[in-house]
Amino acid sequence: MREPIQGKKKKISLLFVCLGNICRSPAAEGIMKSIVEKHDLQDVIEVDSAGTSGWHEGELPDTRMRAHGEKRKYDFCSRARKFRKSDFDAFDYILIMDQNNYNSIKGMADNTEQISKVHLITEFSRQYSHHNEIPDPYYGNSSDFELVLDLLEDACKGLFLKIKNDFSLI
Ligand code: 4NP
Repeated sequence: MREPIQGKKKKISLLFVCLGNICRSPAAEGIMKSIVEKHDLQDVIEVDSAGTSGWHEGELPDTRMRAHGEKRKYDFCSRARKFRKSDFDAFDYILIMDQNNYNSIKGMADNTEQISKVHLITEFSRQYSHHNEIPDPYYGNSSDFELVLDLLEDACKGLFLKIKNDFSLI
């Protein structure tokens, strides 16, 4: 295996988590990657997503989520995977879509350092701060998918600004 390049800084790493990793968290991953790329910070911030279930392991995002994303010029193309305990140490921020999954992930943490990395993504909402979770759109209709994208664009912007400020990124 290749040795890490000496002196190279570790990236700031973000992991978005929902239940299936085919609707909300891959959308959050795609939205955040697009913000990071727009600011040319892809060498500084890395983004991934996972599900608390492994039901859709290896699948592309749900076709409805992909279609709604395309209308906003996103390409949601990650492959679903299940959250693993090693993610607690691999990522700096673990950003959860709703209260149920937040409770599941927190329940898997071994110590306070791991717990301190876990946040509800809506903690970073600005315009939509009255929403305290990203509702599951899986059994919903087209307007439910649009709402997910509205909420995620807002919360990802808020999260990006916080990280940019905390780490003094230009
Ligand atoms: P996600 O949505 O957690 O946003 O990916 C769901 C995807 C699949 C299922 C539920 C929610 N499912 O029941 O298979």
